[in-house]
Amino acid sequence: MEKWIDEAFERAAKKFARGAKICAQQGIIPYTGEKDRYVPSPYDGNSWWTGGFWPAIMWQLYNATGDGLYMHEALRAEKLLTDELRRFDLLNHDVGFMYLLSCGAHYKLTGDAQARTDTLHAATLLAGRFNPVGFIRAWPGEDRTGFAIVDCMMNLSLLYWAGEQTHDPRFEKIARIHADTTIREFIREDGSANHIVVFDSSTGEVLDKPGGQGIAPGSSWSRGQAWALYGFTLSGINTGDQKYIDVARRCAKYFISNIREDGLTDCDFKQPKDVYLIDNIAGACASCGLLELANVVGGEEGEGYRAAAMKMLKGLNDLCADWSEESAGILQKCTAAYHDDGAGRHINILYGDYFFVEALCKLRGTDLRLWMAR
Ligand code: GLY
Repeated sequence: MEKWIDEAFERAAKKFARGAKICAQQGIIPYTGEKDRYVPSPYDGNSWWTGGFWPAIMWQLYNATGDGLYMHEALRAEKLLTDELRRFDLLNHDVGFMYLLSCGAHYKLTGDAQARTDTLHAATLLAGRFNPVGFIRAWPGEDRTGFAIVDCMMNLSLLYWAGEQTHDPRFEKIARIHADTTIREFIREDGSANHIVVFDSSTGEVLDKPGGQGIAPGSSWSRGQAWALYGFTLSGINTGDQKYIDVARRCAKYFISNIREDGLTDCDFKQPKDVYLIDNIAGACASCGLLELANVVGGEEGEGYRAAAMKMLKGLNDLCADWSEESAGILQKCTAAYHDDGAGRHINILYGDYFFVEALCKLRGTDLRLWMAR
């Protein structure tokens, strides 16, 4: 293993050991690290979709080091998240991100019965968002009953997990119907993906394909491409269905053909050449997907995926990782959306750090494999 991987892991463990104490004192779930403190999401408090990534960083570090400090902080954050589960009204399809990575991780590592119940509760909420015309509804709001987004491919892991736990086939059936709709309506011929598709929520007819967090309709928001790449890889692994792996391969080829020379990732693969806007979350997430896909397909093709992941991870480490004591997060140049939506551009965003840590754990053989049902 290359030396920088162990070094990066050790530095991440050190940074977040300190961070766990700071964050506990602040009493929040962090969205971003800003200098020597953490800042919560600008939207929806602890119901914001990114809340599970902080405890997930803690669980990954606990698993790799055995240091109870991380578990302690993961459990503090989990309590805030389960309060939101009871409150319910602000939750959406992102309960997959939120609860598989917190309660799900807790259950996976300790067998805690309440954590399992809470994860199943979240899975039931996600299944409840299924519209039988063929998709999982993304967000609340009377004007958004027909909205589905590519990000949901990652949330499907919660359904696969619940199916495995309960032996109830409904969970996987819902996930597969949504994944099949995503292949049909989101994935383009060249392996790129739309961010949003708006369906008629009564008939399932496609009404619109807006640009979402990318530049414009028809563009390729890079994080959306990463969600598709990793999400289809996970559907392939969780169902054993080659069809999903084949879609993931198309998405991977498209993503790889757009990686920048320096290994970083443009925010939208169709952004104008003179725009410098990076989203390192996309690169970190896609790297995790490529490492998993490499294991599934093997051979020379797998080597190619692994090499692309390594190029991106090395780029992140060398050019955009802030290891200084003065900063609370690691990856810089994370961007929430192409058009400024108030959630940040070229800042640290902690779910980028999560995927970076997950990738390091994969490379070191300690990844918790939180997205896998088995
Ligand atoms: N799920 C929204 C995003 O990736 O920003």
